[in-house]
Amino acid sequence: AVLNRSYHEKVIDHYENPRNVGSLDKNDPNVGTGVVGAPACGDVMKLQIKVDDNGRIIDAKFKTFGCGSAIASSSLATEWVKGKQIDWAKTIKNDDIAKELSLPPVKLHCSMLAQDAIQAALNDYQKKKTQRDSAEKK
Ligand code: FES
Ligand code: FES
Repeated sequence: AVLNRSYHEKVIDHYENPRNVGSLDKNDPNVGTGVVGAPACGDVMKLQIKVDDNGRIIDAKFKTFGCGSAIASSSLATEWVKGKQIDWAKTIKNDDIAKELSLPPVKLHCSMLAQDAIQAALNDYQKKKTQRDSAEKK
C-alpha cells in the first residue's frame, strides 16, 4: 500500500492518524458488525457501530486491512456516523466519502468498501434487534 504525493492531505491525515481504530464486542446486542471485502484488490474492512435505545450511534470502530484510501475512508466513516441516528447513517454514499477525501477515480472502490461496511454493520444491528424484539414478544 503506497501513498504517493498526489494524494489529498485529508487522506494522508486520516491514514496517518486514523480515528476510531479498534473493535467493539460483536456479541453485544447493541453492536452491529460489518465485514466486507473489495473484489478489485482483496482488501478487507471491518466496521462496527454501537447503538443506543433511541437509534443513535454512540460508538463506532474499524479495522481495515488495505490501502491508505480504504483506511482513510473507514476512519472518516466512523467519524461521520458517531452521534448520528441510524437512519442518517444509512444515507451515507461512497461519493460523499470520495468527495471529502478527494479520491482519484481508481480509488473509488476504496470508499465503496466503507459504504458497504456501514450498510453491513447497520443490517447486522437491525437483524439482532428484530430477533430481540420478537423474542420479547413471546
Ligand atoms: Fe494496497 Fe489495496 S492498494 S492493499
Ligand atoms: Fe482496494 Fe483501496 S485499493 S480498497
